[in-house]
Amino acid sequence: MRINEHYAKLQAGYLFPEIARRVKAFQDEHADARVIKLGIGDVTEPLPPAIVQAMHEAVDEMGARATFKGYGPEQGYEWLREAIVKHDFHARGCDVDPDEVFVSDGSKCDTGNMLDVIAAGRANRIAVIDPVYPVYVDTNVMVGNTGAADEHGRYQGLIYLPATADNDFTPDLPTEPVDVVYLCYPNNPTGAVASKETLARWVEYARSHDAIILYDAAYEAYVTDPSLPRSIYEIPGARDVAVEFRSFSKNAGFTGTRCAYTVIPRSVTGSTAAGGRVALHQLWNRRQSTKFNGVSYIVQRGALAAYSDDGRAQIQQLVAFYLGHAKVILETFRRLGMEVFGGVNAPYVWLKTPAGLSSWDLFDRLLEEAHVVGTPGSGFGASGEGYFRISAFNSREAVQEAMDRIANNLSV
Ligand code: MLT
Repeated sequence: MRINEHYAKLQAGYLFPEIARRVKAFQDEHADARVIKLGIGDVTEPLPPAIVQAMHEAVDEMGARATFKGYGPEQGYEWLREAIVKHDFHARGCDVDPDEVFVSDGSKCDTGNMLDVIAAGRANRIAVIDPVYPVYVDTNVMVGNTGAADEHGRYQGLIYLPATADNDFTPDLPTEPVDVVYLCYPNNPTGAVASKETLARWVEYARSHDAIILYDAAYEAYVTDPSLPRSIYEIPGARDVAVEFRSFSKNAGFTGTRCAYTVIPRSVTGSTAAGGRVALHQLWNRRQSTKFNGVSYIVQRGALAAYSDDGRAQIQQLVAFYLGHAKVILETFRRLGMEVFGGVNAPYVWLKTPAGLSSWDLFDRLLEEAHVVGTPGSGFGASGEGYFRISAFNSREAVQEAMDRIANNLSV
């Protein structure tokens, strides 16, 4: 058999396993060092009690003949899709129908799998913001939508829109035509947010260029400023051009439980080579029914409980808890005279590396001098070089101790 040689173009390892590898190597040599991880954005707090209770009840149902469930709908149970639409969209004035919601096991998978229904092999001009969540880029490389990477790690054929302090981490619209653009707000990794005006410009761009926006809103729960949009569907016209990815991971603590959803309005269409139009919804529905068995009943019952009164209150507390950490991180680095961004409407703080250190140099210094793990900005793309991401996902004690160690031991 022949392998998919596009994989050979990928850079060595996926960012987070590469970090884990380096941390393990450090720990093997420093068995006594108690390393604090503020690298990968993985939640640390247990599931909210309302969710735990709902899942216990669901387990009992699965254990009794009268209430046992076999295969569920691949798109997700109707009761969960109705709750999603009511609370996440209708409550904010967005027009989304339950049958436009596809419940899944993660936004990482959905953003990657979306390429199944989008023509591959350079048929589309694809844009990403740089720095970028690596999954968008790597999955495009895997299906042959790019050429090889250059010496900065930029893949030939992708359009990179640099987001740096100079443009307030909000790149201008592309100057060349684009067919697909990935947006992520609140942004991973920079913690930047998009105003309604910014999103409206993108929607207008997509409408006038017959492009689609793949909008990753996995961190929307962290938006605290009421003037900021939490869904792209708050923007008039977005229903025709945008797919939105949402997750229960970062708000309800589902990174190990797995539940997310993707909204594909029926009005989002793409073209065929012959010039016809096809609804993306129809293709994704076909894809999911063929390749996906749906999320387990037990997990979907847990996700439903996220929308109960208790569930919502408990999730709000969790989000506020992590945002409190982001504040501590921001204050510490500011006190140390460093330039920091994000961390207000997002669980990530984006730091300008001090003294001209490269991103990986700062990674090594933090690990060696403070035994703290962060994520080098260059791991998110060439424009992330000279930056560094600190995640707010950990216990309060761990975050506080990490900040104390950095303040006391970091030699830059
Ligand atoms: C991150 O650290 O960027 C995220 O945890 C990655 C993810 O959610 O897949």
